[in-house]
Amino acid sequence: MSTRLVVSGTDTDVGKTVFSAALAGTLDADYWKPVQAGRDDGTDALRVARLSGLPPERILPERYILNTPASPHYAARIDGVTIDANDLAPPPAKERPLVIEGAGGLMVPINEDTLFSDVFARWKLPLVLCARTTLGTINHSLLSIEAVKRRDIPLVGIAFIGEEYAESERIICKIGGVRHLGRLPPLSPLTSEALRAAFATSFNLSDFTA
Ligand SMILES: Nc1ncnc2c1ncn2[C@@H]1O[C@H](COP(=O)(O)OP(=O)(O)OP(=O)(O)O)[C@@H](O)[C@H]1O
Ligand SMILES: [Mg+2]
Repeated sequence: MSTRLVVSGTDTDVGKTVFSAALAGTLDADYWKPVQAGRDDGTDALRVARLSGLPPERILPERYILNTPASPHYAARIDGVTIDANDLAPPPAKERPLVIEGAGGLMVPINEDTLFSDVFARWKLPLVLCARTTLGTINHSLLSIEAVKRRDIPLVGIAFIGEEYAESERIICKIGGVRHLGRLPPLSPLTSEALRAAFATSFNLSDFTA
Protein backbone atom coordinates (compact mmCIF):
# COMPACT_ATOMS: atom_id res chain seq x y z
CA MET A 1 0.00 0.00 0.00
CA SER A 2 1.22 3.43 -0.85
CA THR A 3 1.48 6.79 0.85
CA ARG A 4 -1.49 9.09 1.09
CA LEU A 5 -0.38 12.67 1.80
CA VAL A 6 -2.32 15.80 2.66
CA VAL A 7 -1.04 19.10 1.31
CA SER A 8 -2.27 22.04 3.34
CA GLY A 9 -1.07 25.58 3.72
CA THR A 10 -0.62 28.53 6.00
CA ASP A 11 -3.06 30.51 3.87
CA THR A 12 -4.90 30.51 0.58
CA ASP A 13 -2.78 31.21 -2.52
CA VAL A 14 0.54 30.08 -1.00
CA GLY A 15 1.23 27.61 -3.82
CA LYS A 16 -0.39 24.37 -2.62
CA THR A 17 -1.67 23.48 -6.07
CA VAL A 18 1.67 24.08 -7.74
CA PHE A 19 3.47 22.09 -5.05
CA SER A 20 0.86 19.30 -5.23
CA ALA A 21 1.28 19.11 -9.01
CA ALA A 22 5.05 18.74 -8.60
CA LEU A 23 4.71 16.16 -5.84
CA ALA A 24 1.96 14.14 -7.53
CA GLY A 25 3.76 14.24 -10.87
CA THR A 26 7.06 13.13 -9.35
CA LEU A 27 5.42 10.37 -7.28
CA ASP A 28 3.28 9.30 -10.24
CA ALA A 29 0.41 9.66 -7.78
CA ASP A 30 -3.32 10.24 -7.89
CA TYR A 31 -4.42 13.79 -7.00
CA TRP A 32 -7.62 14.66 -5.14
CA LYS A 33 -9.08 18.04 -4.21
CA PRO A 34 -12.12 17.10 -2.12
CA VAL A 35 -13.60 20.61 -1.89
CA GLN A 36 -13.22 23.09 -4.72
CA ALA A 37 -14.67 26.54 -3.97
CA GLY A 38 -14.89 28.62 -7.15
CA ARG A 39 -14.88 27.32 -10.69
CA ASP A 40 -14.90 30.33 -13.05
CA ASP A 41 -11.10 30.73 -12.99
CA GLY A 42 -10.62 27.00 -13.52
CA THR A 43 -10.23 24.37 -10.83
CA ASP A 44 -7.17 23.17 -8.96
CA ALA A 45 -7.72 19.72 -10.47
CA LEU A 46 -7.43 21.19 -13.98
CA ARG A 47 -4.33 23.14 -12.98
CA VAL A 48 -2.74 19.98 -11.57
CA ALA A 49 -3.67 18.04 -14.70
CA ARG A 50 -1.82 20.66 -16.74
CA LEU A 51 1.19 21.14 -14.47
CA SER A 52 1.84 17.61 -13.26
CA GLY A 53 1.99 15.91 -16.64
CA LEU A 54 -0.16 13.12 -15.16
CA PRO A 55 -2.71 11.36 -17.36
CA PRO A 56 -6.31 12.56 -16.80
CA GLU A 57 -7.42 9.44 -14.94
CA ARG A 58 -4.99 10.26 -12.12
CA ILE A 59 -6.98 13.38 -11.27
CA LEU A 60 -9.80 12.12 -9.07
CA PRO A 61 -13.15 13.92 -9.15
CA GLU A 62 -13.88 16.46 -6.43
CA ARG A 63 -16.46 15.55 -3.80
CA TYR A 64 -17.86 19.10 -3.74
CA ILE A 65 -17.47 21.73 -6.44
CA LEU A 66 -18.89 25.04 -5.26
CA ASN A 67 -19.49 28.06 -7.44
CA THR A 68 -18.17 30.87 -5.28
CA PRO A 69 -14.47 31.46 -4.53
CA ALA A 70 -15.05 31.83 -0.79
CA SER A 71 -14.59 29.87 2.42
CA PRO A 72 -16.13 26.43 1.77
CA HIS A 73 -18.76 26.86 4.53
CA TYR A 74 -20.01 30.03 2.86
CA ALA A 75 -19.58 28.92 -0.75
CA ALA A 76 -21.62 25.82 0.13
CA ARG A 77 -24.37 27.86 1.77
CA ILE A 78 -24.65 30.07 -1.33
CA ASP A 79 -25.11 26.92 -3.44
CA GLY A 80 -27.66 25.50 -0.97
CA VAL A 81 -25.34 22.64 -0.04
CA THR A 82 -24.08 21.44 3.35
CA ILE A 83 -20.65 19.87 3.42
CA ASP A 84 -20.68 16.75 5.58
CA ALA A 85 -17.30 15.74 7.01
CA ASN A 86 -18.42 12.10 6.71
CA ASP A 87 -18.54 12.54 2.93
CA LEU A 88 -14.91 13.59 2.81
CA ALA A 89 -13.30 10.28 3.69
CA PRO A 90 -10.21 9.87 1.51
CA PRO A 91 -10.10 7.10 -1.07
CA PRO A 92 -8.49 3.94 0.33
CA ALA A 93 -4.75 3.43 -0.10
CA LYS A 94 -3.91 1.80 -3.42
CA GLU A 95 -0.76 0.63 -5.08
CA ARG A 96 -0.02 4.21 -6.15
CA PRO A 97 0.36 7.24 -3.84
CA LEU A 98 -2.36 9.83 -3.34
CA VAL A 99 -1.87 13.57 -2.91
CA ILE A 100 -4.83 15.36 -1.34
CA GLU A 101 -5.06 19.14 -1.43
CA GLY A 102 -7.12 20.98 1.18
CA ALA A 103 -8.96 24.23 0.48
CA GLY A 104 -7.35 27.44 1.75
CA GLY A 105 -5.54 27.19 5.09
CA LEU A 106 -5.95 24.79 8.00
CA MET A 107 -8.52 26.76 9.98
CA VAL A 108 -10.99 27.13 7.14
CA PRO A 109 -14.54 26.03 8.03
CA ILE A 110 -16.32 23.49 5.86
CA ASN A 111 -19.60 23.98 7.72
CA GLU A 112 -20.89 25.68 10.90
CA ASP A 113 -18.79 23.62 13.29
CA THR A 114 -16.00 21.81 11.45
CA LEU A 115 -12.66 23.08 10.23
CA PHE A 116 -10.53 21.52 7.51
CA SER A 117 -7.98 20.74 10.22
CA ASP A 118 -10.64 18.71 12.08
CA VAL A 119 -11.18 16.67 8.91
CA PHE A 120 -7.42 16.10 8.62
CA ALA A 121 -7.34 15.04 12.29
CA ARG A 122 -9.96 12.38 11.54
CA TRP A 123 -7.97 11.10 8.59
CA LYS A 124 -4.67 10.93 10.54
CA LEU A 125 -2.77 11.07 7.24
CA PRO A 126 0.68 12.70 7.09
CA LEU A 127 0.45 16.38 6.25
CA VAL A 128 2.82 18.63 4.32
CA LEU A 129 2.46 22.28 5.24
CA CYS A 130 3.09 24.74 2.40
CA ALA A 131 4.20 28.22 3.41
CA ARG A 132 5.24 31.45 1.76
CA THR A 133 8.71 32.75 2.37
CA THR A 134 7.72 36.42 2.40
CA LEU A 135 7.00 38.72 5.34
CA GLY A 136 4.33 37.40 7.68
CA THR A 137 5.20 33.79 7.15
CA ILE A 138 6.77 33.25 10.59
CA ASN A 139 3.51 34.06 12.34
CA HIS A 140 1.30 32.13 9.89
CA SER A 141 3.61 29.14 9.86
CA LEU A 142 4.03 28.83 13.63
CA LEU A 143 0.28 29.21 14.19
CA SER A 144 -0.37 26.51 11.59
CA ILE A 145 2.22 24.16 13.08
CA GLU A 146 0.61 24.63 16.51
CA ALA A 147 -2.83 23.79 15.07
CA VAL A 148 -1.47 20.64 13.41
CA LYS A 149 0.34 19.45 16.52
CA ARG A 150 -2.62 20.15 18.82
CA ARG A 151 -4.72 17.80 16.71
CA ASP A 152 -2.05 15.08 16.61
CA ILE A 153 -1.88 15.24 12.83
CA PRO A 154 1.39 13.69 11.67
CA LEU A 155 3.43 16.54 10.16
CA VAL A 156 5.90 15.54 7.45
CA GLY A 157 7.43 18.99 7.41
CA ILE A 158 7.17 22.38 5.79
CA ALA A 159 7.58 23.13 2.09
CA PHE A 160 8.41 26.75 1.36
CA ILE A 161 7.38 28.47 -1.85
CA GLY A 162 8.98 31.66 -3.14
CA GLU A 163 12.31 33.46 -3.01
CA GLU A 164 14.77 32.37 -0.35
CA TYR A 165 14.39 34.02 3.07
CA ALA A 166 16.80 31.79 4.92
CA GLU A 167 16.36 33.31 8.38
CA SER A 168 12.54 33.06 8.30
CA GLU A 169 12.75 29.47 7.08
CA ARG A 170 15.30 28.58 9.77
CA ILE A 171 13.49 30.10 12.73
CA ILE A 172 10.13 28.58 11.73
CA CYS A 173 11.65 25.11 11.60
CA LYS A 174 13.62 25.58 14.83
CA ILE A 175 10.82 26.98 16.99
CA GLY A 176 8.13 24.90 15.27
CA GLY A 177 10.24 21.76 15.59
CA VAL A 178 9.52 20.70 12.00
CA ARG A 179 11.55 19.48 9.10
CA HIS A 180 12.47 21.90 6.30
CA LEU A 181 11.51 19.81 3.28
CA GLY A 182 12.75 22.27 0.68
CA ARG A 183 11.80 25.42 -1.16
CA LEU A 184 10.16 25.72 -4.53
CA PRO A 185 11.53 28.89 -6.17
CA PRO A 186 9.35 31.22 -8.24
CA LEU A 187 9.27 29.80 -11.77
CA SER A 188 8.82 31.88 -14.89
CA PRO A 189 7.45 30.51 -17.06
CA LEU A 190 5.71 28.01 -14.82
CA THR A 191 5.72 24.91 -16.99
CA SER A 192 5.35 21.25 -16.17
CA GLU A 193 8.98 20.62 -17.13
CA ALA A 194 10.40 23.53 -15.10
CA LEU A 195 8.29 22.51 -12.11
CA ARG A 196 9.40 18.89 -12.25
CA ALA A 197 13.06 19.96 -12.49
CA ALA A 198 12.77 22.49 -9.63
CA PHE A 199 11.10 19.93 -7.40
CA ALA A 200 13.83 17.38 -8.12
CA THR A 201 16.52 19.91 -7.22
CA SER A 202 14.84 21.26 -4.10
CA PHE A 203 13.22 18.26 -2.40
CA ASN A 204 14.13 14.70 -1.42
CA LEU A 205 11.51 12.28 -2.61
CA SER A 206 12.29 9.95 0.29
CA ASP A 207 10.86 12.56 2.71
CA PHE A 208 7.45 11.91 1.18
CA THR A 209 7.51 8.17 0.81
CA ALA A 210 8.69 7.02 4.26
N1 LIG B 1 6.77 28.22 -7.70
C1 LIG B 1 5.95 29.05 -8.34
N2 LIG B 1 6.37 29.77 -9.39
C2 LIG B 1 5.55 30.60 -10.04
N3 LIG B 1 4.26 30.81 -9.71
C3 LIG B 1 3.78 30.14 -8.66
C4 LIG B 1 4.58 29.23 -7.93
N4 LIG B 1 3.84 28.70 -6.93
C5 LIG B 1 2.62 29.27 -7.04
N5 LIG B 1 2.58 30.12 -8.08
C6 LIG B 1 1.41 30.92 -8.51
O1 LIG B 1 0.83 31.52 -7.37
C7 LIG B 1 -0.59 31.46 -7.42
C8 LIG B 1 -1.11 30.68 -6.23
O2 LIG B 1 -0.64 29.36 -6.30
P1 LIG B 1 -1.59 28.11 -6.02
O3 LIG B 1 -2.81 28.15 -6.86
O4 LIG B 1 -0.73 26.90 -6.13
O5 LIG B 1 -1.99 28.41 -4.50
P2 LIG B 1 -2.94 27.56 -3.53
O6 LIG B 1 -2.32 27.62 -2.19
O7 LIG B 1 -3.19 26.23 -4.13
O8 LIG B 1 -4.29 28.42 -3.53
P3 LIG B 1 -5.78 27.92 -3.10
O9 LIG B 1 -5.89 28.22 -1.64
O10 LIG B 1 -6.65 28.78 -3.95
O11 LIG B 1 -5.91 26.45 -3.42
C9 LIG B 1 -0.93 30.83 -8.77
O12 LIG B 1 -1.15 31.83 -9.72
C10 LIG B 1 0.32 30.04 -9.11
O13 LIG B 1 0.48 29.85 -10.50
MG1 LIG C 1 -4.95 25.33 -4.64
